[in-house]
Amino acid sequence: MRLIMLGAPGAGKGTQAKKIAAIYNIPHISTGDIFRANIKDKTDLGLKAKEYMDKGLLVPDELVVDIVADRLKQEDCKDGFILDGFPRTIPQAESLDKALISMDTKINYAINIDVPDENIVRRMSGRRACLKCGATYHINYNPPQVKDICDSCTGELILRDDDKEETVLKRLDIYHKQTSPLINYYEEKNTLVTVDGTKNIDDITKSIVEILGA
Ligand code: AP5
Ligand code: MG
Ligand code: ZN
Repeated sequence: MRLIMLGAPGAGKGTQAKKIAAIYNIPHISTGDIFRANIKDKTDLGLKAKEYMDKGLLVPDELVVDIVADRLKQEDCKDGFILDGFPRTIPQAESLDKALISMDTKINYAINIDVPDENIVRRMSGRRACLKCGATYHINYNPPQVKDICDSCTGELILRDDDKEETVLKRLDIYHKQTSPLINYYEEKNTLVTVDGTKNIDDITKSIVEILGA
């Protein structure tokens, strides 16, 4: 199963991608998580990416395209993968298509999680993220068992730097301008499916599994 998660910042891409990855036993590849890990380790890539991320802007295509293409060539991706946060621009989608053609494969579904802007800001201020394993929680909708501690790896949970309200509004603006055209792009390729992202987390997973099948 080769999948892409589409949706606005805070739509629940990461939350659903992790669950779908576990159900289908495929790797979850989040470009946001890759950048955050690099920022934490203070790598060159991390330092460059942070400049853009803190402002709510997209990291330039050339910094992200090769990372994903290399990741998809790794052994654990040979039976499938779920991409979360990539592609995010039309040029990224085109470069992904090229990479997949060279691997003689293609995307099965692009899953669009649809959530109105009004719901997004409320969600983000309550989000807590694990820097160690990338797991995501919400203080009301999906709380960890122990406050500020990750259920899966006992890492510390933080409020992301880019989850401040003004940065979230900027990210939403960028999403509408640069990323939402991908909905049409995948519709034209007949791979788009849209799920209602305002339902509760488990119901959304159920809807996705119904679409994907066993
Ligand atoms: P990235 O990390 O991908 O952030 P994003 O797309 O803005 O999306 P989020 O991770 O904020 O939201 P999500 O949809 O994963 O939602 P989540 O499941 O956490 O990217 C960050 C930055 O990196 C970008 O701004 C950019 O600068 C850069 N970047 C990354 N990839 C790039 C690329 N390809 N090109 C260029 N730049 C790139 O859920 C959100 C919250 O809601 C959580 O608290 C969760 O618990 C809660 N929640 C989830 N589902 C529900 C539900 N159904 N009901 C109630 N609450 C819910
Ligand atoms: Mg995410
Ligand atoms: Zn963790």
